[in-house]
Amino acid sequence: MFSMFKKIWWYIKANWLRYVLAITFLNLASLASVIAPKLLEAGIDKIVNKTITKSSLLALFGMMIAVTVGGYLISWLWNYLLFGASIKLEYTIRRNYFRHLLKMDSHFFDKNSSGDLMTRATVDLNAIAMTAGYGILTLVDSVVYLIMILFMMMYTISFKLTIIVLIPIVFIGLGVKILGEKIHAAYAQSQIAFGEMNNLVLESIIGIRVTKAYVQEHAEIEKLKASGANAYRKNNRLVRINALFDPLFRAAFTAASAIAFGVGAYLVFRRELTPGQLVSFVVYLGMLGWPMFALGDLVNIMSRGNASYDRIDNIMSQTPEVKEPAAPVAVGPTFKKLEFRDVTFAYPGSEFPAVENISFTLEKGKTLGIVGKTGSGKTTIIRLLLKQYCLRKGEVAINGVNIKDIAAGEVRGFFGYVPQEHILFSGAIYKNIAFGKENAGAEEIGAAAAAAAFQKDLETFDDGLDTVVGEHGVTLSGGQKQRLAIARALISDPEILILDDSLSAVDGTTEAEILQNLKKARKGKSAIIVAHRLTAVERADEIIVMDNGRIAERGSHEELMKLGKWYYRQYTRQQLTYKTGVEKDDPSADLEIRE
Ligand SMILES: Nc1ncnc2c1ncn2[C@@H]1O[C@H](COP(=O)(O)OP(=O)(O)O)[C@@H](O)[C@H]1O
Ligand SMILES: [Mg+2]
Repeated sequence: MFSMFKKIWWYIKANWLRYVLAITFLNLASLASVIAPKLLEAGIDKIVNKTITKSSLLALFGMMIAVTVGGYLISWLWNYLLFGASIKLEYTIRRNYFRHLLKMDSHFFDKNSSGDLMTRATVDLNAIAMTAGYGILTLVDSVVYLIMILFMMMYTISFKLTIIVLIPIVFIGLGVKILGEKIHAAYAQSQIAFGEMNNLVLESIIGIRVTKAYVQEHAEIEKLKASGANAYRKNNRLVRINALFDPLFRAAFTAASAIAFGVGAYLVFRRELTPGQLVSFVVYLGMLGWPMFALGDLVNIMSRGNASYDRIDNIMSQTPEVKEPAAPVAVGPTFKKLEFRDVTFAYPGSEFPAVENISFTLEKGKTLGIVGKTGSGKTTIIRLLLKQYCLRKGEVAINGVNIKDIAAGEVRGFFGYVPQEHILFSGAIYKNIAFGKENAGAEEIGAAAAAAAFQKDLETFDDGLDTVVGEHGVTLSGGQKQRLAIARALISDPEILILDDSLSAVDGTTEAEILQNLKKARKGKSAIIVAHRLTAVERADEIIVMDNGRIAERGSHEELMKLGKWYYRQYTRQQLTYKTGVEKDDPSADLEIRE
């Protein structure tokens, strides 16, 4: 049970002074509260013995007020110190947790769902913070306060009577132990169910437009219902077991009070106890409730905190598969060439390689085109060169150095990446563009927008660059999102621009305009263009045609046309479509390319 304290010991140690003060004040407050009944006892006995005077009554009254007011002030202090420490712990762990997530690679995010990661950052973190505040409180009170009260009962009133009334209370201890274990198990289960539900809700909110488009509301509701019911059942079980605590307590204390009163009255009759002592004894007995309850809750809080801590720790102890090199080699700042040497890669958990024996070289100033059917491995090539996954066979090199030996930050610094699925942040358009470069000036932003052929769109928005795009850019069309994403990649003026199917949702004319702009603005810089429409790669220095993870054809546009295979057929077909003008700036393209 106390392993939880071991787990947060690092924090308690770092904040030891705060904890020492909090616990000292907490115990002082307890002391004040155990003194109060003694004052009452003295007063009653003085009344019974008829020895009370006006001055002694006033003195007792004054002391009672002093103890109450003092206790109040001290309580304020420990409350503030202790619970302040607990929210600071929550903040600290959340910050570390988030930092850790930022370090993780694509392996990790393939494996862990966002809903689950979020549950850990909220519900679990809350449970941990509980242990650092309320947990300490219950621990101290269930030990020190309990001993203080028992001491007062045993040594200032009656040892015998104390032992007798404690018998029903001992049963609580047994109940606590049995229930504690059950609660632990039930809590872990309810946490898992909650995580699953969270995930489903998140997914369903993100996908709400698709759900509606496919009229899947009913199916979606059924799914959420089932998951919600499951979370409800698990939580209900937890509540049911938890609920056994309270009645157990009440029963034990009612029994104890009855015994105390009966036996106590007999002892008063035999003059072993004064009437004042009997009264203060019953008051102390009532005071025992909280530390006994704290003792029970301690088990509860600790087991929750423990399970939650392990869930956070499980994430924190995962290391990215893509390791940072121990002694990173600097290859910049100028870019000379990028090489793929016989690269073969399978996604974790997949038997079949997504790409196989890929080799190519991209020199400074050149453009590489990658084309091929959906699922043929184009995006995988891009992910590998961005160091998103760990490569085991073959190598990727920049300026002749394996990217394994180059810091991830430096590798990624060479690229301006426009991913296939554009990620936009809710906020102003200029912020979304400037994401590619810190402190980008208005002029740079404007130039990047112009190069991406986004200027025309801006003119149609009321607030221009200040226009706020909704979450994930819902207020923009597919083509507009792509142009914005291209502007973002252009603003850092990267050595190598990567367009991963980034022109799929713009019409042929705009595509030509963008390519023309890029040619002008990026003289001497390199580009990798993954495209579906072959006109986008027509002018590339080399084009590779992917088929089922392998390079099926390669060469310049002219060479591939002469070859007369897939590229030739596809190009001819597309020329036909283009001439008949079927293609448009199609917002639904956004849905199609999400895989
Ligand atoms: N994260 C992933 N985990 C497992 N398999 C994946 C993942 N991403 C893509 N794949 C698989 O790898 C293959 C190549 O995909 P991809 O490179 O995205 O193709 P393309 O970009 O040419 O459409 C496909 O069979 C796809 O299903
Ligand atoms: Mg792709």
